[in-house]
Amino acid sequence: MASSMGRRPCVTPGPGRHWRPRRSDGGLRVMKHRFGAIAAGIIAATSLTGFIVSAQAQDPTAVIEARKAELKKAGGGMKAISGFVKDGNGTVADVQAAAATIEAVSKAFPDWWPAGTAIGVGKSEAKPEIWTNMADFKAKTTAFQTEAAALVTVAAGGDKAAIGAQLGKVGGTCKACHDAYKS
Ligand code: HEC
Repeated sequence: MASSMGRRPCVTPGPGRHWRPRRSDGGLRVMKHRFGAIAAGIIAATSLTGFIVSAQAQDPTAVIEARKAELKKAGGGMKAISGFVKDGNGTVADVQAAAATIEAVSKAFPDWWPAGTAIGVGKSEAKPEIWTNMADFKAKTTAFQTEAAALVTVAAGGDKAAIGAQLGKVGGTCKACHDAYKS
């Protein structure tokens, strides 16, 4: 590993190149392979849901299954916080953990929508309009990320009423997107 780090100049062509199907350029191939592996490692290390990246490389059904599993975690977090606000279940620490989960899902979310994963493929409930209205889908994603980040901040304060109010705002971003893009 140490020796490969010393060979930085090899990276200059840009990381994108290493992801293309291999070409017949002899010795270069070994180098590309190695940097591809390093890039994959970096992605796995920095992304909460690195497994989705590998799922994506596999097949659309795997992407769909993986994103559904992640979204269920967000749903579980919402439920936990709602239980705290409405019924006094759990602790502020539980709320903070749930808020962190929701925020992590919101951050990883943009990577989960490759073309070819709409309704009709596997168990997808993702409407095809996602891909024809991508700018709007992205705007709704950004709204989700913004409110989820604010939820983390509010949860840190521990004030129940404030948490409830912010939970409502996050829930609004889930609903806005589901109404438009989930069957
Ligand atoms: C920008 C759009 C968007 C936002 C924001 C969004 N979702 Fe979704 N969600 C979807 C789509 C599209 C699907 C369908 C995915 C599929 O079937 O592959 C989905 C599916 C789900 C599912 C179903 C998983 C399953 O296994 O059936 C749950 C649960 C869920 N979302 C929860 C949430 C929660 C909770 C939030 C907010 C905290 C949220 N989503 C925010 C678009 C969104």
